[in-house]
Order: sequence, then C-alpha cells, then structure tokens
Amino acid sequence: MIRLICRENDNDIEFMKKISAQGEWSTRLAFIFAATGSAVGLGNIWKFPYITGENGGGAFVLVYLLCIALIGVPIMMAEILLGRRGRQSPINTMRDLAKEAGAKPYWRWLGWLGVIAGFLILSYYSVIAGWAMAYFVRVSTGVFEGATADGVSSIFGQFVADPEKLLAWHSLFMIMTMLVVARGVKGLERAVRFLMPALLVLLLLLVVYAMEQGDFAQALNFLFSADFSKITSESILTAMGHAFFTLSLGMGAIMVYGSYLPDKVSIGSTTLIIALADTAVALLAGLAIFPLVFANGLEPSSGPGLIFQTLPIAFGHMDYGSVFGGLFFLLLVFAAWSSSISLIEPAVAWLVENKNMSRMRACILSGTTTWLLGIGTVLSFNLTADVRLFDKTFFDLLDYLTANIMLPLGGLCIALFVGWVMSRDDSMAELKMKRPLAYGIWIFLLKYISPTAVLIVFLNVIGII
Ligand code: PFF
Repeated sequence: MIRLICRENDNDIEFMKKISAQGEWSTRLAFIFAATGSAVGLGNIWKFPYITGENGGGAFVLVYLLCIALIGVPIMMAEILLGRRGRQSPINTMRDLAKEAGAKPYWRWLGWLGVIAGFLILSYYSVIAGWAMAYFVRVSTGVFEGATADGVSSIFGQFVADPEKLLAWHSLFMIMTMLVVARGVKGLERAVRFLMPALLVLLLLLVVYAMEQGDFAQALNFLFSADFSKITSESILTAMGHAFFTLSLGMGAIMVYGSYLPDKVSIGSTTLIIALADTAVALLAGLAIFPLVFANGLEPSSGPGLIFQTLPIAFGHMDYGSVFGGLFFLLLVFAAWSSSISLIEPAVAWLVENKNMSRMRACILSGTTTWLLGIGTVLSFNLTADVRLFDKTFFDLLDYLTANIMLPLGGLCIALFVGWVMSRDDSMAELKMKRPLAYGIWIFLLKYISPTAVLIVFLNVIGII
C-alpha cells in the first residue's frame, strides 16, 4: 500500500511524499544492520587485503581512509537522503527529485548507471562468493590440515583452473541470492544481526592468531607506514574506487535502502556508524592476513587469490582449525549474500514499479542475466585467462570499469545533485541535523571537496593533470 502525505516545499508547490511501496524498516537498528550488511562483504575481507598488497601497503591505506572520510561519508549521507526523499527505485527517485528541483529529467540516467553497475558487479561478485562457499566445504572437511604454504597455493591454483566447479558454485550463489530477493529480505536481515557480530568476533580471533603465529610487526609496518613513492595515479584511483565499492555507494543500493528509512532517523550519525563498522572490518581483515603472508614468504601482491592462499594455512595449523575455518568462510558467504541482494535490488525495484512485474519474475529475469554474464568471469580465471583487453582479463576489466569508473561517476553525480541542484532547505529538512555547524561541514564537503577530489583523480589517471 502506498500512503501519500502532502507536504509543501519551498516553492509553495504541493509535493506528494510517499512511503515506499515496499514498506519501511521497523527501527533505526534494522536499517543500520541492512546497510552494514550491504557494505560489509567480499570488498572488506577479500578485496581490501589484495588491492592493498598490490598497491604497496601503507600509503594506499592512508589514501583509502582519506577517501572514506572526505568523499565516502558525505556522499553516503547524500545517497540515503535522496532515497528517503524519493521513496522509490533510484531511477524513479532521481526522475521525481529532479522535477521537484526544477532540473532536467536526465538525472534519472544516474539511476540507470546504477542498475547497470549492479548487474556487472554482481556477475563477478557471485563467482568469488562461490569460491568462499567451496572453501567453506574444503576447510571444514579438513582438506588443509597440516598444509604448507605451497600446498595451499597449489590447491587454489587447481581450483580456479576448473571452470565447471567455478560455474557450479557461481550458479548456487546466484540461486541463493535470487531466492532471498524474491521472497523478501526480512529473513536474511534477521540473520545478519547475529552473523555480523559473529564475523567480527572470528576476525578478532584470527588477528590474535596472526599476532602469535605470523609476522605481526612486518604486517603493521606494511599496512601503516606510508611510503608515498609506491603511490601512482592508478593506485589513487583504486583507493578511491574501493571507498565507493566497500560502502556500496554510487549505484543506488544505499539509495534503495534509504527509501525504506523512517522519517525520524538521523542520517548523519547512522552513516558514521556504518562507515566505522565497514572500515574496522577491512582493517581487521588486513591485520589477520598480512602477518601470515609475511611469515610464510608469500607475495602481498598475489592478487584475488590472496585470502584463499593465506587463511587456510592458519586454519590448517590451529587447534580446531577446521571448525573455526569453516565458520569463517560460512560467515564470509553470509556477508557476501547480504551485499549481493543490495546489488540487484535497484533493478528489481524498478522492474516491479515500472514494468508491473511480480517480484518473482523480476528476480528470474535479472538473476538469469547476471548469471550469464558471470560465466565471462568464471572463464577469465582459466580458459580465457590469456585473452586481454587493455591488458586486462574479463574479470579485471569488469572490476576496473565498475569500481574505478562507474561507482565514482555515480557518486560524483549524487554529490553534484544534492550539493548544487537540490535546494538547501530540502537537504537540511531531510537530514534533520541539530547543529548548523555539522550541516555546514557536510554541505561544504559535498559541494566542493568530494566532486573536486573525484574529478582530480579521474583527470589525473587520463593524464590531463
Ligand atoms: N560493499 C560491498 C562489499 O564491500 O563487498 C560490495 C557492494 C555491494 C558494492 C553493494 C556496491 C553495492 F551497491
């Protein structure tokens, strides 16, 4: 049921504000868990460590943290704000809010950009989540007991060389995702409440293990002492892109979740909690993995296989390793699951709203498309590993295009829209910030700092500045 509330905006034009057709989060905490569920995922535990390894460590981490604070947090607030004000799928929200602000309807393309980015990301995200599922089975059945670093690496090599296995796991994960999206996210949201804290506890446990058994000092040095000679314009782009990716920004996922947010909830403090939780998980993952990397003579720059080549060594040697290891990969699968549903939600919400489809049909259509696309990623680790475009495999290309270009571009448009197109009164009313200073800092970051930073990084990479 859609409830309409009349409200006056500053032009004295009556503006109809809707409660989302899909309902609302029951409490602020429900939203925090859902949004943190979307943010915390493979990006934190699988991607952050390996891109940090590939980009030289400390300086990269520092740039990433700066991007989270100066670009990510202000844009996340803006994206939630847009969602709550529009209360529809991102495409329709942008269309209506542009109209409300007297701007051109082209802003709805921002919604489209997000839908496409969501498809592309989920297509490879699902393949990697499939790896985590396969590793759940392997670790818990004791495959790695007593394994050496070489043994673990060769098991990983054999695994990704087998397209049929990867395809089977990818298919299973896609089915799991679509089932949850089709039947509503309530069940998973309830589960995430317990699973996320459990994941945090397990990560802490791994950090303690890595402190005792790994080369913790070298890992700390690698992660936190900044050597700027290792930084290139490409690595700055990767750090910025990852800030968007890890916070699920720039593609409408957080906007859709914002559209179910009750009116009275404060967007500012809620955003800070989500960003802090997300950053903490990424840093803990780094602290768990790098001590093992250095203690076992592995290369920090081993790429997407890094966690699959390091953590099993730890699980293979600790007491009850197969129990803890199995649990860890299981929780990683859940973290990926709660992120993947938010990747497809903007598309499904739009199909339901505009094409009058049932949720089930919308899921089957978008799920099948994503699954097909995922086959490209499956093959890029084996049969087509040598096929390169711009020196990148299919997986690398998708990852680069989405995380480094589409999400920052989406984020840039969000910042420009809320900062420059939407009226101050509207953004102020939606944020409900009690302190004018806090609003002033936010709008300054959003209007000037975030867009300029994104533009500079883009121009720098193309070589214009
Ligand atoms: N934030 C998720 C992660 O770090 O794994 C990935 C993601 C989810 C990106 C949803 C974008 C998104 F819209």
